[in-house]
Amino acid sequence: MTDIKTLDPVAERVQQDLDSLAEIRDPGAAGWTRTVFSEPYRASRDWVRRRMTEAGLTVHADGAGNLVGVLPGRNPSAPALVTGSHTDTVEGGGRFDGIVGVLGSLEVVRQLREHDLGLNRDLLVVDFLGEESNDYGLSCLGSRSLAGELTTEDLDRRDLRGVSLAERYLGFGLDPSEVLASAARFARRDLHRYVELHVEQGPVLEERGAAIGVVTAIAAIRRLVATFTGRPDHAGTRPMGDRHDALVAAAEAVLAVRQEGCGAPVHGVATTSRIDSDPGSPNVVPGLVRMYAEMRSVDTGWLTDAQRRLATEIERKAAGHGVDVDLTWSLDNERVGTSQSVHEVVGHAADAIGATWEPVPSGATHDAVHIARLCPMGMIFVPSRDGRSHCPEEWTDIADVVTGIQVHAATLIALDRLPDDAA
Ligand code: GLV
Ligand code: MN
Ligand code: MN
Repeated sequence: MTDIKTLDPVAERVQQDLDSLAEIRDPGAAGWTRTVFSEPYRASRDWVRRRMTEAGLTVHADGAGNLVGVLPGRNPSAPALVTGSHTDTVEGGGRFDGIVGVLGSLEVVRQLREHDLGLNRDLLVVDFLGEESNDYGLSCLGSRSLAGELTTEDLDRRDLRGVSLAERYLGFGLDPSEVLASAARFARRDLHRYVELHVEQGPVLEERGAAIGVVTAIAAIRRLVATFTGRPDHAGTRPMGDRHDALVAAAEAVLAVRQEGCGAPVHGVATTSRIDSDPGSPNVVPGLVRMYAEMRSVDTGWLTDAQRRLATEIERKAAGHGVDVDLTWSLDNERVGTSQSVHEVVGHAADAIGATWEPVPSGATHDAVHIARLCPMGMIFVPSRDGRSHCPEEWTDIADVVTGIQVHAATLIALDRLPDDAA
C-alpha cells in the first residue's frame, strides 16, 4: 500500500459553498428542490460551473449534460482518475445528498493546487446530470449515458403528461442523439479508478459511532407499475359484496409490498410511492388505479424471489376483489459491488487520518453504479443525522463533511499512485 498523504480542508470554504448552492432552489417547493431539467437546476449548474473554474479546473459540459472539470496531471496519457456526484435534488430534498461529493471534490482540487501537489494522472471531477429518479423511473441519467446504458427505449419513455424523456432533454438544450453518443466519446478515455464521496442517507454510521463508511455494494432497484382495472359504480347504491373496487385491490398491494420489505433477511426494502385513482370522485367506486412501487436489495437472490412472491400475492388479492391487474416491472440498476482496491485505499486513508470507519452497503443508488462499468469504483460515506435524507431535515455536521473530504483527498492521492494494472 502506498503512503497516505493527508490534507486539511478549509471548513469555512466548504460551508460557504454549501450555503451558496442551497440558495439556488425552487422557491415554490418545499425544502431544497432542484429537480433535473428544472430552471433552478439550470441556474445551479451555472453556479457549479463557475465554482469549478474558480477552483482551477478546466470545465466543459459533455453531450450528456454532465459538467466535467479537468485537473491536468503530469502524464496526460495515463488512465484518468475520476470523482464526482450530483447537485440535483428530489422534490422537497435537502442540502447534502450528492452536493457533498461535488463540493467536497472542489475543496480537494483547491487543496492540491494550494499545496502544489500535482497528480500523475488527470483528475476528472464530474457533476453528473440528474442522479435522482425522475418522472421516467430512471436514476442517474448522466452517468448512465456515459456508461452506454441509456437506450433509445429509455428516451421514448413518457411521463404522466405524455412528454417523452427525449423531449425533456431537448427542452434543456441537449440533443438526445448526442446524449446517446456521449458514451462512445467518454469510452475513448481510459479510466483508472472512480471514487465518490456522499452522505450515508441512513442511520448505520451514527448508530455505530463511525465517522466514515466504506461502501461494500450498492443495492439493485426493481420498479413496479401496477394497473388495477375494476368497475366504476355508484358509491351510494352498489352493495359492498358486489363491487370491483380497484383502489381496495391496490390497498392490499401496498400492504403486500411493505410485508415483502419487512421479510428481507439481510438488506431489503420495499416502498409504494404513489397511487393514482380514477375517477377520484367521492361518490364513485374507483374503477382504475395505477400504483408505483420499488424494491431494493444488495441480495439479488432475495430480490428475485421477493419480486415473484409479490406478483403472485398482488394478483391473488386483486382476483379476490374481482379486479384485473397488469404488473409492469423495470430495472433501475443491478446490484454493484465496489472494488477491493478502492475499498482498501479508503480504509487506509481513514486509518491514516484517525477516522473510525465501517464497511457498509448502500441502499441508496449512486452514479458510481454506472461508472463501475468503466473502471473499478468505490464510495466514501459520512454520517447523516438521524439517518434522514430526501427530506428538508437532511443534515451532516460540517466537521463530519470535512473528515470525509480529508479521507477523499487522501484516497485520490493514493489511487493516483496505484499502478495501472493493480487489481
Ligand atoms: C437516489 O438517491 C436513490 O437512491 O434513489
Ligand atoms: Mn445522491
Ligand atoms: Mn438522492
